[in-house]
Amino acid sequence: MRTLTGIQPSGILHLGNYLGAMQPAIAAQDQAGDCYYFIADYHSMTSLTDPQKRRDYTLGVALDWLACGLDPAKSVLWRQSDVPEVCELAWMLGTLAPMGLLERAHSYKDKTARGIAANVGLFTYPVLMAADILLFDTTHVPVGRDQKQHVEMTRDMAIKFNLTYGETFVVPESVIRDESAVVPGLDGQKMSKSYGNTLELFGDEKATRKKIMGIPMDSRTPAEPKPDADQNIAIRLLKVVAEPAYAREMEEKLRAGGLGYGDLKKALFEQVWTHFAAARERRAALAADLGQVEAVLRDGAARARAVAEPVLQRARKACGLR
Ligand code: ADP
Ligand code: TRP
Repeated sequence: MRTLTGIQPSGILHLGNYLGAMQPAIAAQDQAGDCYYFIADYHSMTSLTDPQKRRDYTLGVALDWLACGLDPAKSVLWRQSDVPEVCELAWMLGTLAPMGLLERAHSYKDKTARGIAANVGLFTYPVLMAADILLFDTTHVPVGRDQKQHVEMTRDMAIKFNLTYGETFVVPESVIRDESAVVPGLDGQKMSKSYGNTLELFGDEKATRKKIMGIPMDSRTPAEPKPDADQNIAIRLLKVVAEPAYAREMEEKLRAGGLGYGDLKKALFEQVWTHFAAARERRAALAADLGQVEAVLRDGAARARAVAEPVLQRARKACGLR
């Protein structure tokens, strides 16, 4: 069993990234098998063209992973572009990927529908993602639900390559947890860097409190019973960060009447803030020792490369390249 996932350094990480991808990835460290996690800096080029921002976000994502519990003794962490072999594999896979498959990608369709000018990189994004996964003989890919289709496309590409050139790649599967498949944003849509509705993992206290207290609610009085309590955004967020019994208790109080929205949001702030308290301390310590973080990434790149090389050679040989 080999678990692999990637996160783009295209912004500041939020609760959705943590619950959809990082938390299950970190939990996998204590199960049987290897863990391979990377910062998808090549992918970030499809949407971000500021080199300094890319460097800053890349470092931020590395700090976030390590602060949240990625243990370099148990997992490999690297920058995607430090193992450029992935681009060669992406080329090979692209030659087998039908245009129609890529044209059906939800994320591509959503972005173009929102008026984002499509570049070729954005269109072939799922091919590079397939290369990321297949280059490491990955079996399991923890992601949020929005990435499920991309993992299915990876499976399609692996199967097609195997049929065309002989058994070469492991066919992976996505790992999506029901309870955090789609973490809601502060406006009730999916939480996403591109929607400006995020709760950052390591935002400062004042800003985090302000964001939470600003979550829009309806005008019902505290005393009124709220039969739709399970739809309330603060309750939905509480369910992903708090102890289940506590979240249920708050939901019941809201449903019965007597709990005001202000108090509910204060409770949510406390839960979010304490959930990341230990990680926040670790992050501050790491940020004061960036040399150590760089060393982890370099060592990760060397270890990742050692796995990637023979897989790439296997693929080259299968398709008749020298
Ligand atoms: P964003 O949509 O904020 O740009 P990314 O596309 O970089 O996030 O996602 C990185 C990882 O985090 C992926 O595995 C993705 O599925 C997961 N993820 C992002 N947003 C959410 C969310 N709201 N709920 C669950 N998982 C999410
Ligand atoms: N496409 C993923 C996202 O935006 C990031 C990613 C790139 C990824 N390569 C991957 C995730 C490989 C899992 C496996 O969230």
